[in-house]
Amino acid sequence: MTQTTPSFTPPQDEGAVKISYKGKSSTFPVLTGTSGNNVIDIRNLQKDLDLFTFDPGLGTTASCESKITFIDGDKGVLLYRGYPITQLAEHSSFPEVAYLLLYGNLPTRHEYKVFVDRLEEKSLLHEQIRNFFNGFRRDAHPMSILCGTVAGLSAFYPEGTDTSNEESRDIAAVHLIAKIPTIAAWAYKYSRGEPFVYPRADYSYSENFLNMLFARPDTPYQINPIFSKAMDRILILHADHEQNASTSTVRLTGSTGAHPFACIAAGIAALWGPAHGGANEAVLKMLHTIGSKENIPDYIAQVKDKNSDVRLMGFGHRVYKNFDPRAKIMKKTCDEVLNELGEQDPLLELAMELEKYALQDDYFVQRKLYPNVDFYSGIIFKAMGIPESMFTALFAVARTVGWVSQWKEAFNDPLRRIYRPRQLYTGPGERDLWPR
Ligand code: CMC
Repeated sequence: MTQTTPSFTPPQDEGAVKISYKGKSSTFPVLTGTSGNNVIDIRNLQKDLDLFTFDPGLGTTASCESKITFIDGDKGVLLYRGYPITQLAEHSSFPEVAYLLLYGNLPTRHEYKVFVDRLEEKSLLHEQIRNFFNGFRRDAHPMSILCGTVAGLSAFYPEGTDTSNEESRDIAAVHLIAKIPTIAAWAYKYSRGEPFVYPRADYSYSENFLNMLFARPDTPYQINPIFSKAMDRILILHADHEQNASTSTVRLTGSTGAHPFACIAAGIAALWGPAHGGANEAVLKMLHTIGSKENIPDYIAQVKDKNSDVRLMGFGHRVYKNFDPRAKIMKKTCDEVLNELGEQDPLLELAMELEKYALQDDYFVQRKLYPNVDFYSGIIFKAMGIPESMFTALFAVARTVGWVSQWKEAFNDPLRRIYRPRQLYTGPGERDLWPR
C-alpha cells in the first residue's frame, strides 16, 4: 500500500517585521522553513493597514507552503523531498522519483512493484479516446492534442474527478502519470500517419515511451539502453521545479476545486509558452536561424540590442543565478547519446560554440545568465530522432508527476483557499456613460 503525504507542520516563527503607515502600525511575523529564504507573513496586511503588496511576476512572493521541491538558485541546488537531483538522476528510475514526489519517501521494493504495476495497468487509454485524435488536423501541434486529450480524460474516468477524498485523488494522479506518455506518443504517431502503438507490460516507463514513439508494424523498435537511460534521466530532471509558472497554474486551477484532469490541462497550456517549456524547441529553432559559427557574433549583438525582442534561448533562469544543476547532468547525457551514435552533430558543435561565446561576454556575465536545462535537452532529443515539435510534450510528460504531486499536496494544506491575487489599478476612475 502506498504511503500518505507527511502531515502538515506549521512553519516556525522567526522574529517579526513592524510596518508603519499613515499613523497606524502593525507587526507581521517572519516565518522560517527548513531551507531557503524566510518569509514575512502579510496575511493581515489589509486588515491592519489597508494595504496590498505589489510584486509583478510574483518573484518575491511565497504563494504556498510546500514540502516537495527546494531550489537554491545561488548555489545551483535542486532537491526533491531533500534528495539532490544529481543523486536521483544518477541512481534512481523515473517511477521511483515519481513515487518519491507523490508520497514523500522513496518506496520499499514491494511499494515500488505495486506502484509500477499500477502505472502499467493504467497506461492503456480507453479505446474511444482514439477517436479524439481523428478530430485534429495531422499538422496539429502535439501540445494542443495533449492539452485537449488530457482535459477530455475526465469524461472517461469519472472516478478520478471526485476530489473529495484522498483515495480518488490518488487514483487520478496515477491515471495521469500512466496515460500521459501514451497520449504524447500517439500525438506523434498521428502527425506521421502511423498506427498507434500500445503500451507493453514488459517494458519500463521510459522504454515504453520510446517504443510507443518509434515502433512500427513493419519495423519493431530495438530498445537501446543508452537511449532509455537518457530518457529516464531527462524525465527525472524535469519532474518538478518548485512553484514555476505551470505548477502555479495547476495549484491556482486546483484552488477552485476543479478536477485534476482540468488542472493538468491548464498546466500543459502554461508550459507551452517559449519562456517556459517551449524553450527547448525554441533553442533548436534559434540554432537553425544562426546557421553557422560565423554568424554567432551578429546573433549575440541582436540579443544584446535593447530594441530587439531576440533572447538567447536556453540561457537564463528566474531562480538559478549561478548554474542550473540540471544543465550539467543534461550535458553529460548529451555526450553519452552522441557517443553512442558515433557522430558529431553540427548543431551541437554550434551550440557549444555559442555557449562558449556567451559565457565570455560581459552582457551575460553581469546578468548571471547561464545555460539552463533546455539548452541541451533539445539536442539530445534531436539525436534520438524525436522531432522538434515533440520537445515540449516530452517536458509535459515528465512534469505531470510534479503537477499532480503539488496538486495533491495543496488539498492537504489547512491554509488552502481559492487563489485571488489583487492588483494596483491604474485605469480610469469611475465615470458616467452619459452624456457621450
Ligand atoms: N537572453 C538575453 N537576455 C536575457 C535573457 C536571455 N535568455 N534572459 C534574461 N535576460 C536579460 C533581461 O533582458 C534582463 O536584462 P536587463 O537587466 O538589461 O533588463 C536581465 O537579463 C534579467 O532578466 P529577467 O527578464 O529579469 O529574467 P526573468 O527571471 O524574468 O526571466 C527567463 C527568466 C527564463 C524567462 C529568461 O531568462 C528567458 O527568457 N530565457 C530564455 C528562455 C528560456 O531558456 N527559458 C527556459 C527556462 S528553464 C526551463 C524552466 O525551468 O521552465
